Amino acid sequence: MASLARRAVGAFALGIAAVSAATTYSIDSTDAIKQTSRQIAYDLMSYYKGNESGQTPGILPGPPPNGDYYWWEGGAMWGTMIDYWHLTGDTSYNDVITQSLLWQVGPNRDYMPPNVTASLGNDDQGFWGMTAMQAAEENFPNPPKDQPQWLALAQGVFNTQADPNRHDKTCNGGLRWQIPFSNNGYDYKNSIANGCFFNLGARLARYTNNQTYADWAEKTWDWIVAVGFMDADYNIYDGAHVESNCTDINRAQFSYNNGVYLLGAAHMYNYTNGSALWKDRTQKLFTATKNTFFPNGTPFEISCETHMTCTTDMLSFKGYVARWMATATKIAPFLSEDVMKNLKIMAGQAIKTCTGGPTGRACGFGWQDGVFDGSTGAGQQMNALSAVSSLLVQATRPPLTNATGGTSGGDYNAGIGSDDFDGHAAPITAGDRAGAALLTILLVGGAAGLFGWMSGGL
Ligand SMILES: *[C@@H]1O[C@H](CO)[C@@H](O)[C@H](O)[C@H]1NC(C)=O
Ligand SMILES: *[C@@H]1O[C@H](CO)[C@@H](O)[C@H](O)[C@H]1NC(C)=O
Ligand SMILES: *[C@@H]1O[C@H](CO)[C@@H](O)[C@H](O)[C@H]1NC(C)=O
Ligand SMILES: *[C@@H]1O[C@H](CO)[C@@H](O)[C@H](O)[C@H]1NC(C)=O
Ligand SMILES: *[C@@H]1O[C@H](CO)[C@@H](O)[C@H](O)[C@H]1NC(C)=O
Ligand SMILES: *[C@@H]1O[C@H](CO)[C@@H](O)[C@H](O)[C@H]1NC(C)=O
Ligand SMILES: *[C@@H]1O[C@H](CO)[C@@H](O)[C@H](O)[C@H]1NC(C)=O
Repeated sequence: MASLARRAVGAFALGIAAVSAATTYSIDSTDAIKQTSRQIAYDLMSYYKGNESGQTPGILPGPPPNGDYYWWEGGAMWGTMIDYWHLTGDTSYNDVITQSLLWQVGPNRDYMPPNVTASLGNDDQGFWGMTAMQAAEENFPNPPKDQPQWLALAQGVFNTQADPNRHDKTCNGGLRWQIPFSNNGYDYKNSIANGCFFNLGARLARYTNNQTYADWAEKTWDWIVAVGFMDADYNIYDGAHVESNCTDINRAQFSYNNGVYLLGAAHMYNYTNGSALWKDRTQKLFTATKNTFFPNGTPFEISCETHMTCTTDMLSFKGYVARWMATATKIAPFLSEDVMKNLKIMAGQAIKTCTGGPTGRACGFGWQDGVFDGSTGAGQQMNALSAVSSLLVQATRPPLTNATGGTSGGDYNAGIGSDDFDGHAAPITAGDRAGAALLTILLVGGAAGLFGWMSGGL
């Protein structure tokens, strides 16, 4: 509703010229896919204000109540935009991407900037780390030598997460959701935090050909299965609390979990030179993802889309699944035929919804009906961009490694000794207190809503 109101206001303000251009996007040829991607990327970037004077580079407007978006989604958007460059060759946004990724590294070059401490989760940090990893794998232009390098940033994130301080004995191991112990959600262990760590470990193992990373990835996968967050049918559940020894599992399923584990499993398959074990896991996880999240081949966010209770975070999950399954085909080619078939269906459905907003071409969230559903935002644009641009993945080179042309500089000691809040609380600001109060209200307000919020509220 809100977005329909905005549309009316926008149309009024801009006059008829702006609304006359109701675009019909096409994905019928390589050129059409590039053209469509270019326009959707442009509209995505219109949500980004971080390079305007007085704004903070790297982030989308937020966090709430100052804007709709949490810190992590900026990191996720730059991953989407690096893929956009990789898939289409359009360098228009490269400078803004680089500036953003470097601005947010934090004092220890491990994506823990003090501004976001009060809601800093392992998953938030992980999303920025995965984007840095992707920059290394795709040979995104390296920063100047005196700046942090992509691979080292990914290693910095990984090392802080592999630190013994983050792996306590509750629930027999695993990462907690939040990093500082004073944060709400520190008592929750969840699939996405561990999924980002698994994904990063698998990719670092393949990139550096170093078994230490693979050992962590194996250990994390084994834990996720043992604790019951991933069941025998490859359903992935949101998480559980340490107070119950992780037995109070919240069974909500979110598609980004499937995406993050799928890409990690594909890397393990490739790193192990095609092991039967990782092939089986990768294949079954993809099959489960299709069965759970792609009714009729079109993505559907089952835990929130039915009644449109998706939070801003959740409105971006479809895009990660699209991108990560596309990348997986480059290193686990047995997935290609099936993934490409699904991508084609989803991209086709997605662009049918791009008829909204003041421009008449904003993409919606729900893709099942192939009509604009009144929902607009950066997540919705990212989803459509990812589905469409990923159709070009077959013509791209696979993610590089240090041995196959990757040029990013690494540092095995990155992030080590970083202040990890061990034993002390994060500094509390007035803004944080407001956030905590809001959370308390939500806690009292009802567990069902909270769990949905928590899993994506980062
Ligand atoms: C911010 O970046 C965009 C590209 O995404 C560019 O079009 C715009 O001019 C930049 N704005 C400023 C103030 O640099
Ligand atoms: C932290 O917040 C301040 C004040 O808004 C801003 O100037 C600064 O750029 C932010 N730092 C990062 C890394 O975002
Ligand atoms: C907690 O759960 C794990 C399995 O996830 C189990 O191995 C362990 O014994 C349990 N600990 C307690 C104290 O119940
Ligand atoms: C994969 O094969 C390469 C080349 O034969 C070998 O160097 C590497 O150790 C193998 N990797 C694993 C994890 O077995
Ligand atoms: C691993 O990935 C490379 C691309 O980097 C690909 O050529 C190779 O076939 C993959 N290995 C297996 C076992 O599929
Ligand atoms: C990557 O390869 C270069 C040589 O091409 C080597 O100097 C460097 O040590 C390697 N880095 C890692 C992390 O293996
Ligand atoms: C492999 O990675 C681990 C963890 O970062 C590091 O301590 C070790 O030195 C690396 N091994 C080699 C041979 O580079």
